[in-house]
Amino acid sequence: MAGSAKTSAGVYQQYINGEWVGNADGKTFSVIEPATELEMARVLEAGSADVDLAVRAARAAFDSGEWPTKTPYDRAQILFKLAAKVREQLAVLAEVEALNTGKPIIEAEGDIGAVAEVFEYYGGLATKIPGQVNPVSANALSLSLREPIGVAGLIVPWNYPLLMAAWKLGPALAAGCTIVLKPAEQTPLTSLMLAEYFEEVGLPPGVVNVINGFGESCGAPLVAHPLVDKIAFTGSTEVGKSIVKSAADTLKRVTLELGGKSPNIFFADADWEASVDGALFGIFINQGEVCSAGSRILVEKKIYSRFVEAMTEKAKTIKLGPPMDRASKMGPVVNKDQYDRVREYLAIGKTEAKLACGGGRPKEFDKGYYIQPTIFYDVDNSARISREEIFGPVATVIPFEDEGEAIRIANDTPYGLAAAVWSRDIYKAFRVVKSLRAGIVWVNHMQPTCIEAPWGGYKQSGVGRELGPWGIEEYLETKQVHINLDEQPIGWY
Ligand code: NAI
Ligand code: MG
Repeated sequence: MAGSAKTSAGVYQQYINGEWVGNADGKTFSVIEPATELEMARVLEAGSADVDLAVRAARAAFDSGEWPTKTPYDRAQILFKLAAKVREQLAVLAEVEALNTGKPIIEAEGDIGAVAEVFEYYGGLATKIPGQVNPVSANALSLSLREPIGVAGLIVPWNYPLLMAAWKLGPALAAGCTIVLKPAEQTPLTSLMLAEYFEEVGLPPGVVNVINGFGESCGAPLVAHPLVDKIAFTGSTEVGKSIVKSAADTLKRVTLELGGKSPNIFFADADWEASVDGALFGIFINQGEVCSAGSRILVEKKIYSRFVEAMTEKAKTIKLGPPMDRASKMGPVVNKDQYDRVREYLAIGKTEAKLACGGGRPKEFDKGYYIQPTIFYDVDNSARISREEIFGPVATVIPFEDEGEAIRIANDTPYGLAAAVWSRDIYKAFRVVKSLRAGIVWVNHMQPTCIEAPWGGYKQSGVGRELGPWGIEEYLETKQVHINLDEQPIGWY
């Protein structure tokens, strides 16, 4: 037996080498429910000694060969069982995810459903990673073999806690890697719950280890560890850059999914109702805590004033409420830090732009990190609220004259994760699509995310791609094998 996930005092432990274990120094930290500001759990805090233990367990599980040499079919079966278990536990996982992040339960249910789908997708893909025969000389057989990279450190954020973990766990497991998973310190709970299923679904000890802790004291030593071969990270651009620097010392493979300031572009000829909806959905879904949030709303001058008015009218009707209320469209933001950060930007925005609606805390809540859906307008692309990622329910509406100016403004950002364009003119829409420097471009929609399609950023929004076949590539090495077919001596002497 793997022991108990929680200590007798109810503190969540670490999952290392198939066992629930204590940490080196006994430190714990508190997990806060953002709607009530109350503690919802305590979790052991991992430091570098714990990181080392978890990495060594993953290393041993990889080097023993048990996981990487399992047949892809067997690895697939385990991923399918994990998916089935997630579906069986969907209600409880979704409730914990909603309470811990603040997101509405209907969103959390969607997230957890997607977690199961990701495991199924990569279970399916595990058996479909062929190598290649390379066209070399007639006297040789040249092969390319695809092999797992080794030990992968997975560092995930708090906005989609279990889903971001699944985007990495699915392909890493399918590829045959072993893993140390470090969830975000704000939202460790659903990853710990997932670890409670590992033994039951037949995951061998050491294949996935879960430790929790803070960026500097837990994430950084994982990135620096010489026995880790690869880091997959989702989070801030600032930390992404520090990861690249640290990983240089050991030349780890690194994939990064970072921030954005994604343009959502509306032409005058676009469907009116769909556009107004799409502008609001693009920025306010998940409280705006979305890497691909359509936070810069670019609107053609001909419709600009009317568009701001229509958005404002509708934004005022968005229902904020506690996560477990099925009527809630938006909940509180994730924690006090994020709340303070967003409120700082609200203050900055008030000096840089006109405020159409929102701009503060809704009066109806006496606690919880709630922020009103906020729309700033009459602002240009050089303002701080147009350039910096806010990661909250704050939209900046910027007018443009014509197609050329829309493209110029859209691309005038260090980021390049996502973009959307709304128009009925397919010539114009597709010209804009080709001109945008972004990893994901939607036409007449914003945010749909398909497991089968590549996800990742241009420019400072990231390195590498997740999801689809692209996602598994990031966990594979390529080995060239040259088989000599000529029995004659080389004849060199
Ligand atoms: P963060 O980038 O600091 O944290 C994300 C993850 O990285 C967490 O697991 C954290 O513990 C870990 N981490 C932090 N510092 C680290 C380090 N030095 N080495 C290794 N791992 C480290 O993001 P944070 O502080 O939670 O949020 C700040 C801003 O980052 C947000 O306001 C938002 O703009 C952006 N962000 C973007 C996300 C995205 O989906 N692209 C997700 C979360 C945050
Ligand atoms: Mg941080």
